[in-house]
Amino acid sequence: MFGSEYLLIPGPTPVPERITRVMQQPMINHRGPAFHQMYAEIVEGVKKIYQTEKGKVVIYPSSGTGTMEAAIANFVCPSEKVLAVSIGAFGDRLAEIAAAFGADVEKMDFPWGEAADPEKIRERLKMDTKHEIKAILVTHNETSTGVYNDIEKISATRENHPALLIVDGVSSLAALELKMDAWNLDVVLSGSQKAFMLPPGLGLMAFSEKAYEAYQRNTNSRYYWDIGRSLKFQEKGETPSTPPVTIYFGLQEALKMLEEEGLENVIRRHAGYRDLIRGGVQAMGLENVAADACASPVVTTIRVPQGHTPAEIRNRMREDFNMVVSGGQGKLADTTFRIGHLGYMREMDLLSCIAALEMTLKRLGIPVELGAGVKKAQEILLAR
Ligand SMILES: Cc1ncc(COP(=O)(O)O)c(C=O)c1O
Repeated sequence: MFGSEYLLIPGPTPVPERITRVMQQPMINHRGPAFHQMYAEIVEGVKKIYQTEKGKVVIYPSSGTGTMEAAIANFVCPSEKVLAVSIGAFGDRLAEIAAAFGADVEKMDFPWGEAADPEKIRERLKMDTKHEIKAILVTHNETSTGVYNDIEKISATRENHPALLIVDGVSSLAALELKMDAWNLDVVLSGSQKAFMLPPGLGLMAFSEKAYEAYQRNTNSRYYWDIGRSLKFQEKGETPSTPPVTIYFGLQEALKMLEEEGLENVIRRHAGYRDLIRGGVQAMGLENVAADACASPVVTTIRVPQGHTPAEIRNRMREDFNMVVSGGQGKLADTTFRIGHLGYMREMDLLSCIAALEMTLKRLGIPVELGAGVKKAQEILLAR
């Protein structure tokens, strides 16, 4: 198969040429003036994406999971009670990390495919009259199920409860609306390889003043993840350890691209991707896991027709059409596959994906009317 693959997975996502080009710059001293200037510009740019003026931002050389661990190590004390709200594999992961650091984890699970019900969280917090719950852990966009949570509503359920709200925004930041200050969020995590259109390697974390106070009281062991060290180095425009400078070049360019397009337009664009993929998938007779009301703008999780496996569909799509989609995760591993529509995507790539999926179903003997999904996706596109 020639030509580069169509990469339709929920991270890593395609890297625009503009970003690839700036990442070819010669290496610079990470303790020199050029880096100082770039770093200051990047921190300001990232704060705009988080929509925070009051919050602080740290950037780690890490994947998204690193920032999950950083959030627990900095803001949750061993034996403190946390309410871990989970709607899928990544909600479970955050709960596991908290448990690994000795937190007293109370899980609040919702069925996979549904969003968390803010009212249930409100009820639980109301019962906690002694304010034993110190933090609520929640995923913004659950990449395993293709469902997003209403973080604004979840945040508001705290009313006067002092628990921190720690949000995994790894697959949502810069693609879904997220207003750190206006929604009163305490900690929000993200990673470079999703909506930032960068290679994997940078973990981003923003936190509020209230979270910083919790950090100062925190007795957890930490060194690499210690935000105090990061903030100290940030004052002189540096990071505590050697940063992946090349990805910083890319991030500087990505922030320019996001600014040029405008965050609102970026968010609208992703919602459009979702409608196109979901509409096309439904029209060809497949079932989406998420209901319309909570369907993710960045990833669609699709049930595999009975008698078939995710691997059959994925392998056919890759081998026959050069189209790379993801498998299912966790308890949906054997029954679903996922199409990522996140970051630097073109609508024509998504149309090609729908076309390739139809032909794949046909080749596998799964009943499908060729063109039904493509037609629906085209109609959705033209109706805008
Ligand atoms: C919601 C969410 N959280 C956390 C992660 C973990 O990120 P990483 O694989 O970069 O460690 C992912 C990765 O897909 C994710 O989608």
